[in-house]
Amino acid sequence: MSSLTTAPSKGLEGVVATTSSICYIDGDRGVLAYRGIDIHELADKSTFEETCYLLWFGRLPSRPELAELRDRFAEERKLDASIFHRMHLIPKHALPMDVLRTITSTLSFFDPEEKSNDREANLHKAIRLTSQIAMIVAAYDRIRKGKPIVEPDRSLSHAANFLLMLNGEYPSKTAERALVIALILHADHELNASTFAARVTAATLSDMHSAVVSAIGCLKGPLHGGANEAVFHILQAIDNSGADPVEYIKGMLAQKKKIPGFGHRVYHTEDPRATHLRLMSRDLGTSSGQPKWFQYSQAIEEFIKTDKKLNANVDFYSASTYHTLGIDVDLFTPVFAVSRISGWTAHVIEQLDDNRLIRPRADYIGPAYPQRYTSMERR
Ligand SMILES: CC(C)(COP(=O)(O)OP(=O)(O)OC[C@H]1O[C@@H](n2cnc3c(N)ncnc32)[C@H](O)[C@@H]1OP(=O)(O)O)[C@@H](O)C(=O)NCCC(=O)NCCS
Repeated sequence: MSSLTTAPSKGLEGVVATTSSICYIDGDRGVLAYRGIDIHELADKSTFEETCYLLWFGRLPSRPELAELRDRFAEERKLDASIFHRMHLIPKHALPMDVLRTITSTLSFFDPEEKSNDREANLHKAIRLTSQIAMIVAAYDRIRKGKPIVEPDRSLSHAANFLLMLNGEYPSKTAERALVIALILHADHELNASTFAARVTAATLSDMHSAVVSAIGCLKGPLHGGANEAVFHILQAIDNSGADPVEYIKGMLAQKKKIPGFGHRVYHTEDPRATHLRLMSRDLGTSSGQPKWFQYSQAIEEFIKTDKKLNANVDFYSASTYHTLGIDVDLFTPVFAVSRISGWTAHVIEQLDDNRLIRPRADYIGPAYPQRYTSMERR
């Protein structure tokens, strides 16, 4: 019999596990804000670098502070030669998300502050990891395609650098701004599964790299960040088979499958991030001459909203948005990490500011205690 008095909440639904001053969500009103500033305002007016500053330092930067952060990003946009060598040794069939997980772990060996877990060192690691993770995603994609690594350009923004290092050419202003908005929208989301994993790891007084590796492994799952890739596989299957999008989705539901990109643990109304991604998917679809992905998506959304009363989440329209930006489907979740590294690291720093080991209990429902040990001969 359990000595615990409260019944467990499956999946910790509705459980408040910590206090935090980073991200505010009102799931009933569809509000998301970083440090109190509404995501719609940030998406319209901010940059990814400024959003990082806001998450890490708790306020918007002054002009010199922002310039300094951009310089720091540029300085940290480098990887040890052995990191590139390791990526060359990885089998070419390896998924970019798995490569990101493994190589991020390796980064710790080369971090000049590896042994320090203090606030200042962790802020430096947050900046370093944000620069490096974007480089790893871009570099591995080129390596697996047999293309040369592209040097970053100090004069460019973080988003433009990522697209340059990925595609080997300078991005258009439209593509750059689209990625900036996507990075801002994905930067943080309170105690989502990967951020919780990062905080649990940090709370043991492990280190920043270990916390981020935990988070990357967690983000990969199709119930979390992996959903954006799953969405695009459905859009591709519809396109390849010529199926009617709604009939295809009805077939999935008939098999009791969940439709990736819909539903949310916290939002009971429109996910405010989906509002922007829907528009971006539409506009980029039109400007890139590929409107079909948005059209399939819109038909699916209308059906699921009516039939299942479920709203699209952040992952639904990010799939078609990333595709029209020329990003390969198995890079969608790594691109999520390119952004969410900002939130993970902010949460690790906040956790360590007022740390206590995170160690909940389980309600034991196994064989009643005490059971006898039966010897091998008598089993
Ligand atoms: C996000 C998600 C994991 C939240 O899960 P949750 O809070 O545990 O909610 P549940 O899985 O218990 O779903 C509650 C009900 O809605 C249904 N539902 C939720 N999301 C659904 C989806 N995407 N497609 C079809 N049905 C869905 C469930 O089947 C369940 O129905 P039931 O009560 O009749 O069994 C879930 O909505 C999901 O799996 N979505 C698809 C994956 C995804 O897009 N993840 C990214 C999230 S940002």
